[in-house]
Amino acid sequence: MPTNKPLVVITGKNGQLGRELADLAPEYADRFSFAFFGRDELDISDEQQLTKVFEELKPAFLINCGAYTAVDKAETEQEKALAINATGVGFMAQLCKQHDAKFIHISTDYVFNGQGTKPYEASDETDPVNYYGATKLAGEKIALQNNAESIIIRTSWVYSQYGNNFVKTMIRLMKERPEIRVVSDQVGSPTYAKDLAEAILHIVAGNPANKGGIYHFSNAGVISWFDFAVAIKELKQLNSNVSPIPTTAFPTPAKRPAYSVMGKDKIVAEFGVTLKDWKMSLQECLDKL
Ligand SMILES: NC(=O)c1ccc[n+]([C@@H]2O[C@H](COP(=O)([O-])OP(=O)(O)OC[C@H]3O[C@@H](n4cnc5c(N)ncnc54)[C@H](OP(=O)(O)O)[C@@H]3O)[C@@H](O)[C@H]2O)c1
Repeated sequence: MPTNKPLVVITGKNGQLGRELADLAPEYADRFSFAFFGRDELDISDEQQLTKVFEELKPAFLINCGAYTAVDKAETEQEKALAINATGVGFMAQLCKQHDAKFIHISTDYVFNGQGTKPYEASDETDPVNYYGATKLAGEKIALQNNAESIIIRTSWVYSQYGNNFVKTMIRLMKERPEIRVVSDQVGSPTYAKDLAEAILHIVAGNPANKGGIYHFSNAGVISWFDFAVAIKELKQLNSNVSPIPTTAFPTPAKRPAYSVMGKDKIVAEFGVTLKDWKMSLQECLDKL
């Protein structure tokens, strides 16, 4: 049946954020229609497929949850990562401009080099330490170049009841092993994907005209991965012994930033989104696992 409600198209529907948005969408069904696409239905690096969706569906909003997120693999699959995280993002931003749709795109704390000592602001100098971060930064730049009205939300340490993430890995390892070791010299802020999904739909519902630019979003609070693991152990009442190790004891193909805390005043001031405490959100997610 035809509807005159504005259409929100969401890509990457099978990822953590895509699935949380799908869960929340019914709460906004009185104001918006939603169309969700997985990678097999809409490849965001394919300009023709994207064009077809715009011509046929005429969305009012495009929320891009699709991304190449395999941080270590991106070091060797560079071309693929760049096509998805940058070239495709450029296509989407351009199509949104041509079709008068609002583009909302997600980026990462990995655009920073992690040598900071105070929360990074959206306007701070970028300097990615790995190839994934470089592709996400390239995506931000091409999005704003093609469409200055693009809303780019950088987030960090995303977890959810869905997909693969640190929280689910920790629970599995703590059940399997009497002892686990977790890096304690990388600090940042976790983001429950459900909270990010709520923030995004709040922004959509607020009619975000003339608010293009870069914003930061995560849960409130600053912790290390070790602190995060200890909280998971305690809240989940698991018995494994968790001990801290330095990053040097856990080498990975892609470097990680040591400090990736982001200042979030801008997104709060501009859109009035709520920042929930990281531990309360962790508890909410753990209740579902
Ligand atoms: N996860 C984190 O810790 C983190 C941190 C900072 C920023 N972010 C950013 O936050 C956003 C959401 O992340 P997430 O954790 O929800 O990621 P995710 O769970 O890895 O989901 C990404 C989704 O994108 C899909 N995808 C991959 N290539 C695609 C393509 N060519 N066309 C369409 N879809 C494609 C994947 O499909 P398949 O399911 O088929 O693989 C997957 O469902 C991303 O932009 C990510 O860069 C994430």
